[in-house]
Amino acid sequence: MSAPDSLLRLANVTKRYPGAAAGDLPVLRGLSLEVARGETVAIVGPSGCGKSTLLNLIGTLDLPDSGELILDGQRLDTLDELALAATRNRQIGFIFQSHHLLPQCTVLENVLVPTLAKVGQASSLSSPSESPLDRAKQLLTRVGLTERMSYRPGQLSGGERQRVAVVRALINQPKLLLADEPTGALDRATADALAALLLDLNREQGTALIVVTHAPDLAKRMGRVLELRDGVLTAQ
Ligand SMILES: Nc1ncnc2c1ncn2[C@@H]1O[C@H](COP(=O)(O)OP(=O)(O)O)[C@@H](O)[C@H]1O
Ligand SMILES: [Mg+2]
Repeated sequence: MSAPDSLLRLANVTKRYPGAAAGDLPVLRGLSLEVARGETVAIVGPSGCGKSTLLNLIGTLDLPDSGELILDGQRLDTLDELALAATRNRQIGFIFQSHHLLPQCTVLENVLVPTLAKVGQASSLSSPSESPLDRAKQLLTRVGLTERMSYRPGQLSGGERQRVAVVRALINQPKLLLADEPTGALDRATADALAALLLDLNREQGTALIVVTHAPDLAKRMGRVLELRDGVLTAQ
């Protein structure tokens, strides 16, 4: 049984890529993880150890070969693609190393993209009076981008683009924010500012945060640091 405040639970998860260069050894080998609501967790480990694989499974972008994946009391490893897509859109926000913004859209349009795919879903917004547009403007102001809302990504600095990606990830008020090396493409000062922002938003919005990172400074700021090694997680 999971603890009452458990948000995410992985139990005995395995994942292998058939025919991969690493041989047919599974990347994840019976991995377990429990994350509480609002918790912050860093996942560290050498390149190629399976960090992105793990984050993609948690984010339901890929399915495990075996094991259980439970988000907010719901088994995800048995859902069909349509149900998964709905859960992903509503409950999970993603930030990648490269921001993946749409170059032809403005900052404001970019952060509203996840709110478009809401067909057949109850709104996850806490207050019916708060429109996605209001929330987008509020969050963009919160991250210091008030003056940049009508800019296109190409007109922004790397740090600004990554802040847009953070707002886009939070726009549907997810319970869980997944970040895969979010500061990997940023200089030191900009990376520090982004880390501070992620932690402030974690506290303000109550969004649990799982960050995969190579940066020890960023990892240390999370509530817990786990190392992925030989396909399982161990506390640091
Ligand atoms: N789609 C894929 N097909 C085959 N092999 C893959 C695929 N994705 C990752 N791998 C392999 O799985 C291992 C783990 O990769 P990854 O999860 O990206 O590691 P990390 O994010 O820790 O650098 C690596 O050996 C990688 O080459
Ligand atoms: Mg990776």
